[in-house]
Amino acid sequence: MLERKNIVLIGFMGSGKTVVGRELAKILSYELKDTDSIIEERTKKKIEDIFLQEGEDHFRNIEAQVIDELSSLRKKVISCGGGAILRKENVLVLKETGVLIYLKAPFEVLYDRIKMSTNRPLLKVKEPEQAAKKLLEARQHAYEQVADFSVDVSDRPISEIVSEIEKRVRENS
Ligand code: S3P
Repeated sequence: MLERKNIVLIGFMGSGKTVVGRELAKILSYELKDTDSIIEERTKKKIEDIFLQEGEDHFRNIEAQVIDELSSLRKKVISCGGGAILRKENVLVLKETGVLIYLKAPFEVLYDRIKMSTNRPLLKVKEPEQAAKKLLEARQHAYEQVADFSVDVSDRPISEIVSEIEKRVRENS
């Protein structure tokens, strides 16, 4: 499986999908595909501006299109935006060609990492901590359910997380 399949990283904002993805891609000599970066390149807009000007639904449509395209590729590490698995169709296509890995951490750890960020539109609300907590609660089950396996990403060096993923992908194949 490792020879053919994509490695798809899912999880909440702040779970380290991009950073872990970068290291994993380096070690496996796979190319990294980050859905948010692709969306920003393609639209020539920042994610927060897409949300602001065209709305979340429009963003989700572009995200679904990008995910559909990426799913037709092979040997990629695909780092997905935190809400990517909310659409069933995204999960279906990602699963066809990839092994889905949930980067998991407790809310406190995640929020500590994202609380200072200024580029996450879903946190630009009156009570960001409450909003983020609600979002995680609403999504947690979906992350667990769609993932082939979960990896604990709280308070561990990236190298250790990457080694665990590599090992478990091999075991799963
Ligand atoms: C989102 C997460 C963001 C980005 C957008 C929506 C979400 O990506 O796709 O702001 O719904 O959780 P990260 O998970 O990389 O922050």
